[in-house]
Amino acid sequence: MEAVGILAGSIAHDFNNVLMTIIGNTELIKLDAQDLGAPDDLWVSLGHIEIASRRARALIGQLLTFARQQPGRARRLNLHHAINEELELIRVSTPASVAIDYHTDVENAATDIDPTAFFQIVMNLCHNAVEAIGDKGGQITLHLSRIERGQAGGLDKLPKNALGTIRLLVRDNGPGIPADIQQRVFEPFFSTKPIGKGTGLGLAIVKNMVSDCGGRVKLDSRLGQGSCFTLLFPQLPVLEDKAEKNSRPPQGSERILLIDDEDTLFYTIRRMMARLGYQVEAFTSPALALLAFEKSPQNYDVVVTDMMMLEINGAELIEKMRQIRPDLRAMIVSSYITDNAMLDGIEDVLKVRKPVNMTGLAHALRATIQGGEA
Ligand SMILES: Nc1ncnc2c1ncn2[C@@H]1O[C@H](COP(=O)(O)OP(=O)(O)OP(=O)(O)O)[C@@H](O)[C@H]1O
Ligand SMILES: [Mg+2]
Repeated sequence: MEAVGILAGSIAHDFNNVLMTIIGNTELIKLDAQDLGAPDDLWVSLGHIEIASRRARALIGQLLTFARQQPGRARRLNLHHAINEELELIRVSTPASVAIDYHTDVENAATDIDPTAFFQIVMNLCHNAVEAIGDKGGQITLHLSRIERGQAGGLDKLPKNALGTIRLLVRDNGPGIPADIQQRVFEPFFSTKPIGKGTGLGLAIVKNMVSDCGGRVKLDSRLGQGSCFTLLFPQLPVLEDKAEKNSRPPQGSERILLIDDEDTLFYTIRRMMARLGYQVEAFTSPALALLAFEKSPQNYDVVVTDMMMLEINGAELIEKMRQIRPDLRAMIVSSYITDNAMLDGIEDVLKVRKPVNMTGLAHALRATIQGGEA
């Protein structure tokens, strides 16, 4: 596992940049497709790209979390909303012969979890079920319910503020799992797939992610009778969630000075910002950006910069600009914000981790400009 982590860590930086280009441009094409009234096939293809990039993003995130190179970003998440949103994507990439049903009797099913981790959990379980079901076709059923504190089947250990246990069942009518390997399926690298087909990390990741947020996973399966994975999470009070309530990302019209030394990303982020209504002046060279800023520091409301750049790093750049204009709002968008040491001494900078989507970028920009939390 450690080797995987080191490997993941060393490629994560480039990988996240690549992903940000894919995710950002997919979102931009979706907006264009909406404006232009694109044909159904195009939407399906876009859905495939979106789900593939979300999987890739979740996978690299999980590998880093596994290796403890990057903590998960837990927040209060309504699992019901998350599942609905995710199934829309999963259905696109599932063969028509597999039906996916979802029922719930709790709409307020909130727990503290990294949304990317939750995405990965549901994705891995559905993916396994689809593979187990095979070409014949079959049925996957998800059921979300709650169990009162103290009632049988719930979590024994619950945080003080928990309202009870949320239970998610993921059931399939595939071939089932033989009793002798049921204990092993959660082990890292355990797979019954041919070499080169499966990593065997799917369920290990599920188990890790679920226990990271104080939950538990159970498996019930009999040969010939399908499999049922039971996930338990502490049910926590629903918080007002700005991001979840407004589905439209917040817009703005401020003037942004953008610096990213990678060509494709520079183009992508600039277009994302322009789509959100901002006026953007963008540079791939931090030195040229600094010259422009020195010439007319009042021309910009906020600077948004990459961290790792050859000439000057993002933190130094912000520092230099603030020597001229101490009140300058600043945000760093970087694929590897674990090392806060580099940011020592500079305050009041919002850090955003790549890859970030349009909604994430939109909220981060508002928070940077208005001051406060993203
Ligand atoms: N729903 C299921 N039905 C039958 N067998 C399953 C199911 N889910 C998991 N398994 C068994 O558990 C094993 C481990 O699953 P896991 O998701 O950890 O890895 P994998 O699916 O083999 O590889 P990867 O997830 O990388 O594609 C699988 O190889 C399979 O034998
Ligand atoms: Mg799997």
